Amino acid sequence: MQQLNDFFKVVQQRVNACMQEKLAQMPSEPASLKEAMHYALLLGGKRARPYLVYATGQAYAASLKDLDYVAAAIECIHSYSLIHDDMPEMDNDTLRRGQPTVHAKFGPATALLAGDTLQALAFDFLTDERCHIADEVKARLCGTLARAAGFTGMCGGQALDLLAEHQHLEQDALEHLHALKTGALITAAVQMGYMAARYEDAHNNSTGDVIGLTLGFVERPQVSRDLEHLTTYGKKVGLAFQVWDDVLDVEGDTAVLGKTVGSDEAHDKSTYVSLLGLENAKAYAQKLSAEAQAALKELKVPMPLLEQFAQFCVSRDH
Ligand code: IPE
Ligand code: IPE
Ligand code: MG
Ligand code: MG
Ligand code: MG
Repeated sequence: MQQLNDFFKVVQQRVNACMQEKLAQMPSEPASLKEAMHYALLLGGKRARPYLVYATGQAYAASLKDLDYVAAAIECIHSYSLIHDDMPEMDNDTLRRGQPTVHAKFGPATALLAGDTLQALAFDFLTDERCHIADEVKARLCGTLARAAGFTGMCGGQALDLLAEHQHLEQDALEHLHALKTGALITAAVQMGYMAARYEDAHNNSTGDVIGLTLGFVERPQVSRDLEHLTTYGKKVGLAFQVWDDVLDVEGDTAVLGKTVGSDEAHDKSTYVSLLGLENAKAYAQKLSAEAQAALKELKVPMPLLEQFAQFCVSRDH
């Protein structure tokens, strides 16, 4: 998967530079908060969601410079979610991206505030004047990201994740949990890459809602079928990504993964491995990946980078 690896390098370089520049423009005080933001944002991370933004956006001829802001915005939400996810009140983890978690290094108050600040920074990125996406599209991007991050997305999923500790969930319920906590942001990354390029289609779509696909997108004739298929891809690949994350928590290597293996079992989490067993969880992730790739075949443009990403999701070791 040379193409994927090369593209990841470009993505990492671009989005890191964009985030670095933004932080450099901020005042230096309060220094501890700024240091914690920098630590959480810039010291590691695969940049999987930025990859999806750039891969989708560039396939529809969006400007890479504009996509920098969209990618950075999603990565801010993701990094904030990890800071809070690791805190003692949630998963109580001390290792992230091969380093002490933010609360372990800076204390809980700074960790909370760094998460809060990164959430706000996401919308600062999306409304940055140097990003030349039309204002109406920026507003739609903000709405899509807000819904993917909030009650109908990541935060809602995180709440379900905590409620599901020490519980037995049926597969439907676990799928809903995973689709919210991880799938929503991954789906939004694909949708936002598309929306950044296809101004008119994004404008004509009156829902812009990640989770609300079946409520809105499909029935509206003016909305491109491509967005519908990309959304299917995002949902499948997002779920596969979290199923594989559950697998890695069991059979990954802490040194390679950069987070402590066995955390899910220690907290009696509801995961695909706890529900299906390791081998069936892997097979299910592979099935989702294949379905994601099948959705790409419906598109008007070839999408080798998205295809490879779907394969990467269920073969990665970190
Ligand atoms: C980890 O996400 C948390 C999940 C939502 C599964 P990533 O695996 O994308 O973490 P980083 O950004 O590469 O550290
Ligand atoms: C977290 O899922 C998803 C988020 C929204 C952060 P996990 O709790 O399994 O993620 P890791 O394994 O700690 O990265
Ligand atoms: Mg968690
Ligand atoms: Mg966790
Ligand atoms: Mg995990």
